[in-house]
Amino acid sequence: MRRIPRFVRFGGLLGLALWGAAALGMAQSLSRLPKDFVFRSADGPGPVTFSHETHVAVQERPDCVTCHPKLFKTLAPGATTDGRPVTHAEMEQKRQCGACHDGKQAVGLDDCTHCHRSP
Ligand code: HEC
Ligand code: HEC
Ligand code: HEC
Repeated sequence: MRRIPRFVRFGGLLGLALWGAAALGMAQSLSRLPKDFVFRSADGPGPVTFSHETHVAVQERPDCVTCHPKLFKTLAPGATTDGRPVTHAEMEQKRQCGACHDGKQAVGLDDCTHCHRSP
């Protein structure tokens, strides 16, 4: 039987894009990671900056699939995979950032200024 490359099985184009980006990340330095993404809604207490540099340990293992495509899209910056905007109602159900920011794996949702910082 012909072997199907792993990235094709993983999900076609997106898999290929991630695989390429991950390979790049491994070969190069932290500066190759995507730039910070700022979440900002009118009713939030201040912008929330998501940084790949604080979430990805490139030197160890650039584990992109912890978040992509399970939680967040890569080809549509700012978009979640479930299609719903990032809100606390979602995060409290352990979705989106709340998959980790539960007070155990990472700082919990009660520590407002950990995420919301003045503009
Ligand atoms: C802890 C979760 C997490 C991990 C791990 C992670 N990302 Fe992301 N990534 C995000 C979030 C959040 C965004 C911004 C919101 C969105 O695009 O959905 C994002 C956005 C992106 C984007 C679009 C950004 C842009 O400006 O075009 C790319 C490309 C991307 N990530 C690639 C990667 C690669 C490659 C890795 C592994 C080296 C990785 N990500 C690891 C959460 C993560
Ligand atoms: C793990 C990061 C994180 C923490 C901690 C956090 N937030 Fe948020 N919050 C977000 C993100 C991301 C959004 C979506 C973007 C935005 O609205 O700025 C958001 C949105 C909001 C919104 C808009 C409406 C909603 O329900 O989503 C309010 C209000 C809010 N946060 C208040 C708070 C308060 C008050 C605290 C502390 C008790 C807090 N946040 C802690 C990340 C966080
Ligand atoms: C795969 C697990 C995971 C996901 C998903 C995740 N985080 Fe984190 N995050 C961590 C860990 C672990 C740390 C380091 C410990 C800490 O600060 O809680 C961290 C640290 C942070 C910090 C402090 C460091 C910094 O960059 O200033 C912020 C802010 C943050 N996360 C925001 C977010 C936002 C916003 C999202 C969703 C868009 C998100 N995180 C999704 C695991 C995660």
